[in-house]
Amino acid sequence: MKEKLEKIRQEALAKIAETNALDKLNDIRVSYLGKKGELTEVLKGMKDVAAEERPKVGQLVNDTRNIIEEKLEEMKSKLAAAAREKQLREEVIDVTLPAKKNNVGHRHPNSIALEEVQRIFVGMGYEVVEGPEVEYDYYNFEALNIPANHPAKDEQDTFYINDKMLLRSQTSPVQVREMEKGKLPIRMIAPGRVFRADEVDATHSPSFHQIEGLVIDKNITFSDLKGTLAQFAQELFGENTKVKFRPHHFPFTEPSAEVDVTCFKCGGKGCRMCKGSGWIEILGCGMVHPNVLRMSGIDPEEYSGFAFGMGLERIALLKYEIDDMRLLYENDTRFLKQF
Ligand code: DAH
Repeated sequence: MKEKLEKIRQEALAKIAETNALDKLNDIRVSYLGKKGELTEVLKGMKDVAAEERPKVGQLVNDTRNIIEEKLEEMKSKLAAAAREKQLREEVIDVTLPAKKNNVGHRHPNSIALEEVQRIFVGMGYEVVEGPEVEYDYYNFEALNIPANHPAKDEQDTFYINDKMLLRSQTSPVQVREMEKGKLPIRMIAPGRVFRADEVDATHSPSFHQIEGLVIDKNITFSDLKGTLAQFAQELFGENTKVKFRPHHFPFTEPSAEVDVTCFKCGGKGCRMCKGSGWIEILGCGMVHPNVLRMSGIDPEEYSGFAFGMGLERIALLKYEIDDMRLLYENDTRFLKQF
């Protein structure tokens, strides 16, 4: 038995000394020390050993086990160290290589223009509010004095979710939602995304943004509307900017107007920017229609108000002299970084 143990010891140590991989070490452990390993087999033969010999043989088995384990551990740390060494050598960092550039994005012209418009109106005491992009037909049309089958519904053909819900075609429904809250007076602007079934071209997109405005109080008149928008135009386009109100029709305002500003490029003389006319259209507006007030629970005998709506992209295109709306949606930082 002694010779057998000696043989196992020598064989195991020789195998350990020969290994060059960590997983092979484990195979060796299993084949000598495991449940069915050679040393365990020897232990099973102890019952045939004479009783007085057993402690001695037992000690010998233990010694053999210990030395094999010790050598296994020794080899394991040696191989692990070598592997780490190899990894370090392979992963040498060249500190002279140029560093990766950290690319920071850039504010979008829409955002810059929106912040500018918000700054102007907040300065005049307006609140900035928001409404849902998925809207009820009632808020988008009905409550704005656009009943079913009204031709204005065709002009703003949009995307329907079902009979009652759609992607809003304008930010005007936010007016109704504000008025329904029943807190007067109101002085608000409502920026947000709107949707229309339009084909993409240089001036159209099925999804764009508007900024809505609404003021409701006692004794609000058309001259308040004119003064407010004149002040706005001067702050946005320069103090020499003049405004012109052209009669127009919107179902939710009466009277209604479209507003032009003197071309900030040529000062009104006529150029490529204003197509020779000296004027540039920027928004629609009017005095809130009594029907609209009534539907939202406001007494038109007691209160009056004005409203306006502008396209955010249109403002950004004008202000930054961009000639194709599609550029605003590509998010190419080489383009965005110019503003
Ligand atoms: N909602 C109108 C549109 O999308 C724009 C507009 C015109 C809004 C007049 C108004 C307004 O609040 O009074 O064409």
